[in-house]
Amino acid sequence: MKKITIAIDGFSSTGKSTIAKQLAKALGYIYVDTGAMYRAVTLFAIRNDFTSEENLENVEGLVSSLSEIHLKFKYNADVGFAEMYLNEENVEKEIRTLEVSKLVSPVAVIEEIREKLVDIQKKMGEDKGIVMDGRDIGTVVFPEAELKIFMTASADKRAYRRYKELLDRGEKVSYEDVLQNVEKRDHIDSTRAVSPLRKAADAIEFDNSDMGLEEQFERMYNFALRIIEKQ
Ligand code: DC
Repeated sequence: MKKITIAIDGFSSTGKSTIAKQLAKALGYIYVDTGAMYRAVTLFAIRNDFTSEENLENVEGLVSSLSEIHLKFKYNADVGFAEMYLNEENVEKEIRTLEVSKLVSPVAVIEEIREKLVDIQKKMGEDKGIVMDGRDIGTVVFPEAELKIFMTASADKRAYRRYKELLDRGEKVSYEDVLQNVEKRDHIDSTRAVSPLRKAADAIEFDNSDMGLEEQFERMYNFALRIIEKQ
């Protein structure tokens, strides 16, 4: 059976990666979390003092250091997915902090950074058999993807999910702070000039505010099977 490309886009904390991982596993496809790549570049910016607490201050510095940023995914059988490596260091944990979440949107608006990352992403999908999640996968990275999903959920449901996730990881955060971050990122991600977050015309809109994981998976898996059978 021919393999297809599955693009999953949507707002932050809609559970894109959870469902994308399950889908990839069930289909025997590669899973790529493109948010992790933007987060790794943000971590690089923080470590090189290109940022203040609230903003990316030295855009030029970061852009001129782009050739020093090497990103790689390496599969970890223990966790069942590919982890993010920045210059050969596993940064999977460091890129998930609220500090990185606060600075990632201003990093993701920079054209040169998007060009570099989109290039890598297109190469990863050359052989199809891939589930990729992000913000511009169905619109920019794989506009020809056979299955495109656009995930949404209310801001408070998403903030609550992210808040619980951060608490479970031992971060001390307030719900209000997380909600503010979710709303701010929604705004920046959907109004930026380059590749703003928007639903591709041929994407299926999927609101999971009131849907459990099992139901989400079943529905998505069926969408995928229907398309794969027609190939
Ligand atoms: O999916 P995430 O929350 O880990 O993504 C982190 C940020 O990266 C998000 O605020 C927007 C940006 N991003 C992007 O601009 N394009 C992508 N394809 C993926 C993520």
